[in-house]
Amino acid sequence: MIKLEGIEKSFGNNHVLRGVDLTVNTGEVVSIIGASGSGKSTFLRTINFLERADAGKITLDDICVDAANADKKDILALCRNTAMVFQSYNLFQHRTALENVMEALTIVQKKPVQEARAIAEEQLRRVGLSDRMNYYPHQLSGGQQQRVGIARALAINPKVMLLDEPTSALDPEMVGGVLDVIRSIAEQGLTMIIVTHEMAFARDVSDRVAFFADGNIVESGTPEDIFVNTRETRTKDFLKHMLAR
Ligand SMILES: Nc1ncnc2c1ncn2[C@@H]1O[C@H](COP(=O)(O)OP(=O)(O)OP(=O)(O)O)[C@@H](O)[C@H]1O
Ligand SMILES: [Mg+2]
Repeated sequence: MIKLEGIEKSFGNNHVLRGVDLTVNTGEVVSIIGASGSGKSTFLRTINFLERADAGKITLDDICVDAANADKKDILALCRNTAMVFQSYNLFQHRTALENVMEALTIVQKKPVQEARAIAEEQLRRVGLSDRMNYYPHQLSGGQQQRVGIARALAINPKVMLLDEPTSALDPEMVGGVLDVIRSIAEQGLTMIIVTHEMAFARDVSDRVAFFADGNIVESGTPEDIFVNTRETRTKDFLKHMLAR
């Protein structure tokens, strides 16, 4: 279970997160949707301290951290158990797919090379890249590079996976394959928070959907609650806009 309580974040005068609360149970998939600039990425980034929240509490199973005052030990404990998948895969260009996935295991987790290799191979197989392990990023399609990014996140065996628009940098023909991989991982029971602009995917894969506007969750519920029985005007307007694209 991961629980975020009262998460606040400002950049200068820009009050981006305004006391966000979100609880995601183990094995649950929650999608966050919402307009550009509403704070979705910032919220995800505060969860694993890519951005430090100004206030709020983060609880991950038995780890409980006051975000504003977290020390190195707290941050490390959270980071060990959360993995982020970025829009722009952030792969090392001079390392192969296999080496990219091994990196976190050998450098951060200090696992022996043989063990790291075995885990990396297993995760690359899981995302359908058994025949691409020794390719460099420039030899892979965008969709394949993103699947390396997902394998890298899976390799650390996180309790929670955070995905920030994992398909929005991809050519349209690559999107489906990556969404299929994410869907299959979700079905295997990994806890996930996914920021996405893919409404059909959010509706299909999520246990719950949260609509974000102006730095807070305006409305959340089952996909049916949000997409069919929408309550808030702001959510309705957003969905109308997304459908019209
Ligand atoms: N490092 C930063 N420094 C200053 N301002 C920032 C920083 N990161 C984000 N912001 C500001 O915070 C606000 C929310 O940005 P954020 O990236 O979280 O939005 P978003 O909902 O993810 O948007 P999008 O859908 O376009 O990705 C924006 O006004 C943005 O300019
Ligand atoms: Mg964003």
